[in-house]
Amino acid sequence: MRMAILKVARLGHPILRTVAAPVAAGELHKPEVQRMIDDMIETMAEYDGAGLAAPQVHVSKQITVYAVNANPRYPHAPAIPLTVLVNPRITALSDEQEEDWEGCLSVPDLRGKVPRYTRVRVEALDRHGKKLEFVADGFHARVVQHETDHLFGKVYLDRMRSFESLSFVREFLRYHAGATVPEE
Ligand code: NI
Repeated sequence: MRMAILKVARLGHPILRTVAAPVAAGELHKPEVQRMIDDMIETMAEYDGAGLAAPQVHVSKQITVYAVNANPRYPHAPAIPLTVLVNPRITALSDEQEEDWEGCLSVPDLRGKVPRYTRVRVEALDRHGKKLEFVADGFHARVVQHETDHLFGKVYLDRMRSFESLSFVREFLRYHAGATVPEE
């Protein structure tokens, strides 16, 4: 199958601020939807992203992909298998939040500290319409929250408690090195 690298929408594009449409179960068997999911995976890999949501590639549907494995840019990030979530819903399983660095392919060259729930329940469909339900912790929980936010018109900047930590990548590397900061 031929795959394609898709163009990534950047902050300011209205699609990033639009609530994406849920995907009808009958839509998932369509070749064009499956191809779009493959293209999202390809695009995420091309840009060394940890995750990508459909609105980031100009498709206003509730689909997100993520994976972390042996990413040369984040050698210390824990591995997360390739996951496709359709119509994800997230429930925090405790009030506990943790602040850590995030980046985003739609907000290029910046990093910031974002509070996220440390443990969440995820309910979604997989790419074939099968029901998924699992609990995500720590970094995995962070990635899921970041990607799901994209489906509801939010970016990580909206979740920051203050912009004091906001840094360009170069300054981040110089002054805050040691942290792993995937782009999602
Ligand atoms: Ni993002």
